[in-house]
Amino acid sequence: MILRDMTAGDIEVVLGIEQQVHAHPWTRGNFTDALQSGYVCKVAEAEGGLIIGYAVLMSGVDEAELLDIGIAAQQQRRGYGRKLLEAMLALALELGKSRVVLEVRASNTAAIGLYQECGFVQIGLRRGYYPAAGKREDAILMGREL
Ligand SMILES: CC(C)(COP(=O)(O)OP(=O)(O)OC[C@H]1O[C@@H](n2cnc3c(N)ncnc32)[C@H](O)[C@@H]1OP(=O)(O)O)[C@@H](O)C(=O)NCCC(=O)NCCS
Repeated sequence: MILRDMTAGDIEVVLGIEQQVHAHPWTRGNFTDALQSGYVCKVAEAEGGLIIGYAVLMSGVDEAELLDIGIAAQQQRRGYGRKLLEAMLALALELGKSRVVLEVRASNTAAIGLYQECGFVQIGLRRGYYPAAGKREDAILMGREL
């Protein structure tokens, strides 16, 4: 797996994966804004240049926030998510951050499992934070010291 900077030309493919794997996907505008805002936006490529995943990290003063991460459905459970997340943690450390935080839907057991595997612990809870089919869903706040 190779990690490289996401470009505007990648958004079409990234959006395709995002819509495939997320019940509440980011829009094209969200990815365009992330690129224009200078967030750390990376794509993960398999051999042959096929994009299999992506991640977006927002760099704050002392900490970074992981805003999005996704691995194509047919490539999941092969360790790519962990490799990609570990690479994003290493980038945050290189940027001088001391902590990475994120928010995740309470029902997203796959992502919570990945985050726990990578050393994240729950640091908060936002009740009813996310819209979810006809009701609201809690956001779990997680953090990982670097
Ligand atoms: C979360 C996600 C990125 C994980 O990617 P992945 O490549 O499948 O993850 P890995 O293969 O590296 O798995 C690492 C660990 O995460 C956990 N995990 C991953 N998928 C899981 C699942 N479906 N159920 C439970 N635990 C899971 C496991 O602990 C796993 O370790 P193991 O395989 O040794 O048991 C992927 O499921 C995804 O793209 N989900 C949709 C997008 C999303 O929800 N993003 C996060 C919120 S922004």
